[in-house]
Amino acid sequence: MHLNEFIRLAGGIQNILRVLLPQKKVALCVSNPDLVAELPADVELKKVLTEWHLISGSVCTTESELLELGKDIGGQLRAKAMNCFEPTESVYRPGWHVSPPVGLLNDPNGFIYHEGKYHLCYQWYPYDCVHKDKYWVQMSSDDLVNWKRESVALTPSDWFDSHGVYSGHAISHEGRIIVFYTGNARIGEERIRQTTQCAAVSDDGVHYEKLGPLIPCPPEGVTGHIRDPKVIFRDGIWWMFLGAQTDELKGRLAVYKSSDLKEWKFDGLYGDELANGNYGYMWECPDVFEFDGQFYLAFSPQGIESHSPLNTLPHHNRIAVLTFTDEGGIEIGEPVILDYGFDFYAYQSVETPDSRRVMIGWMGLPDEVNQPSCDQGWIHQFSLPRELNFAGGRLIQKPCRELKALRGDEIEFGSETEIDLGRKQFELMLTLQSGGKIQLFADDKYSCDLTFETDKQRLLLDRSNTEQRESDLLRELPVNGEEVRLHILADNSSVEIFINDGEAVMTSRVFTPASATRLILGDKVKNVSGYYLNGARLPFANQ
Ligand code: FRU
Repeated sequence: MHLNEFIRLAGGIQNILRVLLPQKKVALCVSNPDLVAELPADVELKKVLTEWHLISGSVCTTESELLELGKDIGGQLRAKAMNCFEPTESVYRPGWHVSPPVGLLNDPNGFIYHEGKYHLCYQWYPYDCVHKDKYWVQMSSDDLVNWKRESVALTPSDWFDSHGVYSGHAISHEGRIIVFYTGNARIGEERIRQTTQCAAVSDDGVHYEKLGPLIPCPPEGVTGHIRDPKVIFRDGIWWMFLGAQTDELKGRLAVYKSSDLKEWKFDGLYGDELANGNYGYMWECPDVFEFDGQFYLAFSPQGIESHSPLNTLPHHNRIAVLTFTDEGGIEIGEPVILDYGFDFYAYQSVETPDSRRVMIGWMGLPDEVNQPSCDQGWIHQFSLPRELNFAGGRLIQKPCRELKALRGDEIEFGSETEIDLGRKQFELMLTLQSGGKIQLFADDKYSCDLTFETDKQRLLLDRSNTEQRESDLLRELPVNGEEVRLHILADNSSVEIFINDGEAVMTSRVFTPASATRLILGDKVKNVSGYYLNGARLPFANQ
């Protein structure tokens, strides 16, 4: 039977939600089983968990016909998702951070500077605050601060990505954007993971054409958890880096190589040198980049030993020096912490035209899907863009200089130690002395507190007195000396704290009621200044 006949039996293209290829059979998931035609003996209509699947082993088709079918399903999914761009009213909605109109946003994807513009996508599930069948939404920007929504670039509509167009990076190549991503499909009642590494191309940064899987299955010794490709060109060949999990449930970096971006050859798994080979159970979202002649690997390892007892979650953030060896492999240096706050994960970076390295992360963490903003139908946001530097081998991070454009009026600090800012979008510069404490987003009941504890020589970030519903409530950063300099950038449900001119960062979402706009500085604060921040031009923002 030809594919077209199979589509007809399924009740036509409008009745098809997704297509799957379990063990060389074609399965069409139909939305209404009553629309399915009378079936020949070799075709089965079967309920698989909550979905109706029409399955046949005798469908004759080609790769390009299946891609065409995916395109048609994609058109339907895109049209439906476009109805989800009406943002709900929400006091938590950021004024200058990217957030989803409705649904769940997670990782930044495909972050690239291409033909005079920045391009950045986000992982999105439009229909609920849950992790499910991810889409890529494409945005563009001239300045990394104001973003325009361009398109629903990629939909979970093909046999290789029907349960999620997972994360990946982009390259700007011969006038086009090529994105590499992980195709996630789940097969049968057991929901067996079918993982492929795929590509799509775009000539205009708006419309994308999928090319299908480049790497059809995980390499030997690796589970279905291998994903989030990053591709770079070095020494005349293309390298693809993937986060991976071995059969022994160890996190590793998988490397493939290619001479033409099409044929990819597995090179090996790297990371044995970290923690005697026991560096967590999975690494997600590797980003490999060159800065000032040195390569770095930023990644999101899961299940590594926590640096602090206050940090009880498996999801961590790290960056390490990466060295290419003479033997054609790589070595990973000792990883350091990128962010000491609660919510910085799955980051990607871009090189600006003036050779700065700018990183944006997901301000959220896996597993966590219940926060106050869910009551208004959305969850999670992006971090601010930060500039990375490596001064004398030491990581220094600062808010991207373009963010200064958001500065409004200067905040007037008199002799008062408590002031009602009347809003939550602000920037503060101050020196906190040992024993001092500041309270942000405060009212009579709520506040987010930052304390310089003298005895413990640490900065303690405490959000236990906020509306946080899930995740940890305390984070600590070791500090020494008598005082710390703080650069704080606040938005309606987040705070990003840069410590000692960027030696450390604490990124956190903070939910308090709209009325909680007081700032309490106490008596151990010096040299305080600040600005109210205007909203950015974003697809969805509280202005
Ligand atoms: C990280 C991650 C990635 C995956 C994506 C799916 O947050 O789990 O590894 O590609 O999210 O949305």
